[in-house]
Amino acid sequence: MLSASGLAKSHITPQGPLPLFRELSITLNHGESVALMGESGCGKSTLLHILAGLESADSGSIWINQHDLCKMNDSQRAKFRRYHLGIIFQQLNLIPSLNILDNLAFQARLAKRFDSEWMAHLAEQLGIEGLLKRYPAELSGGQQQRVAIGRALSAKAPFLLADEPTGSLDEANAEQVMKLMLSLVRETQTTLLMVTHSAHLAAQLDRSLTLSQGCLR
Ligand SMILES: Nc1ncnc2c1ncn2[C@@H]1O[C@H](COP(=O)(O)OP(=O)(O)OP(=O)(O)O)[C@@H](O)[C@H]1O
Ligand SMILES: [Mg+2]
Repeated sequence: MLSASGLAKSHITPQGPLPLFRELSITLNHGESVALMGESGCGKSTLLHILAGLESADSGSIWINQHDLCKMNDSQRAKFRRYHLGIIFQQLNLIPSLNILDNLAFQARLAKRFDSEWMAHLAEQLGIEGLLKRYPAELSGGQQQRVAIGRALSAKAPFLLADEPTGSLDEANAEQVMKLMLSLVRETQTTLLMVTHSAHLAAQLDRSLTLSQGCLR
């Protein structure tokens, strides 16, 4: 289970502090899939980064499977993340110097959970098995998005935090990639928090939350 409470965050900007939320709480139960919606700029990516321990909150607590994220130092958090969290970034962050196979296997190798059968299954399910020797710059946006999904699932971490994983795709492709991702998430019983602007995609998850004026409803 992932449970955060009393989260507060303001970004520091040249115009002064930009408060995003105060006293925000969220719970993700084992195996459920939850959509995170809200207007552009309301703080969805920031919240995801905080839950992943990549950015710090100003206050509040985050527990992931009985581990207190806020009590860890940076290196403990990085190590924890390897085993517990798969992350799909809004900007994908594929590693340009690694080929697709090595991008796909990146998280699994970090977590010492590389499994060639699972890699082959992921690549096949995501329809990227013919692209493994290419480099990210040689892939279309949709293909890159599939690689990012595969990489985030490669270590079979119990949680997947996905920031608009189909954001740059047209509707038909978004639907297809979403289906692939959800089927892999269900197969691995991964707990999913997914940012999306699409009510249609959100409706395919177990429930949805909307971040608005600093509150999650
Ligand atoms: N590192 C930062 N420093 C200062 N301000 C930031 C920083 N990151 C984000 N912001 C600001 O905080 C607000 C929330 O940003 P965030 O990226 O979390 O929004 P979002 O809900 O993910 O938006 P979108 O739907 O467009 O991706 C925005 O106004 C943004 O400009
Ligand atoms: Mg965002």
